[in-house]
Amino acid sequence: MTLPKNEYLSDVWRDGLFEKKVVFCTGGSGSICSAQVRALVHLGANACIVGRQVEKTERVAKDIATARKGAKVLGIGSVDVRNIESLQKAVEKCASELGRIDFVIAGAAGNFLASIDQLSTNAFKSVMDIDVLGSYNTLKATLPHLVKSAGNHKNNGKTANPAGTGGRIIFMSATIHYTTMPLQAHVSVAKAGVDALSHTTAVEFGPRGVTSNIIAPGPISGTEGMERLATKASKEKAVKSIPSGRYGSVKEIADATIFLFSDAGNFVNGHALVVDGAAWRTHSAN
Ligand code: HXC
Repeated sequence: MTLPKNEYLSDVWRDGLFEKKVVFCTGGSGSICSAQVRALVHLGANACIVGRQVEKTERVAKDIATARKGAKVLGIGSVDVRNIESLQKAVEKCASELGRIDFVIAGAAGNFLASIDQLSTNAFKSVMDIDVLGSYNTLKATLPHLVKSAGNHKNNGKTANPAGTGGRIIFMSATIHYTTMPLQAHVSVAKAGVDALSHTTAVEFGPRGVTSNIIAPGPISGTEGMERLATKASKEKAVKSIPSGRYGSVKEIADATIFLFSDAGNFVNGHALVVDGAAWRTHSAN
């Protein structure tokens, strides 16, 4: 189903902002990532989304392409971020069919509620592998393209870190590891690892013009994460503790994404952009 524009994109952005740019996104058929990619495509980018499910990934890619006439959106299924070979093949297909990769969203994640004593070693490892190893594999497979894209924006070669978009990665994280959340030890540990990876990337590759940032969404309406983690009663209780007094929308995560990939975000590197209505500031484990 095609989302009406007002559900995934604010009116403040200008058409053509990301013309000639290409975004590669893992977990791109999920509710948050698909809105992020849809907004970038609406604003001129072409895109490649990858996921494990073939039918779902291809269907969502087709749907995202309707955001702009003439948009090219590849949907590549059977890609598991835990497997570097399948990811590298997808990255090469994206670069050869769309010509380049400027922006990356490392969005694939795994989650379920389980207490530490009920988690099997393999369950813990599965989430670590999808979130941490998968983010690393995504970075590793796309980094040559990001460095190349950043290099294309060099100011006559005079500055190492010039203004101009290109060579940017966003890691999708969370806020639960800032405090604690019961039944989420596996995800908290994994997201802390993802954050460390992003920070290190910012420092190692900043000198080559690449920016690496984190978006940490809070409770966002209508997402798979919320469906997996919250009951109706817990949602009603939780909303009362969010200082902004409501859940966020996927559009608000798309807005943060556009900011970080736009010229407005040129000097933002090594940052964690929390988009949660200040929810984590009041978060209590009880
Ligand atoms: C306990 C569970 C479990 C559960 C799976 N496992 N679900 N253990 N409680 N509810 C265990 C299995 O028994 C198995 O361990 C191990 O995890 C691996 O399960 P598989 O199904 O074989 O693995 P796989 O197919 O790779 O699935 C990965 C998954 C699954 C993470 C377990 O849930 C998944 O594919 N999720 C992808 C989509 C997703 O989670 N999206 C939500 C993202 S939301 P044993 O010992 O039996 O072998 C998000 C928000 C973060 O990330 C923010 C938080 C606030």
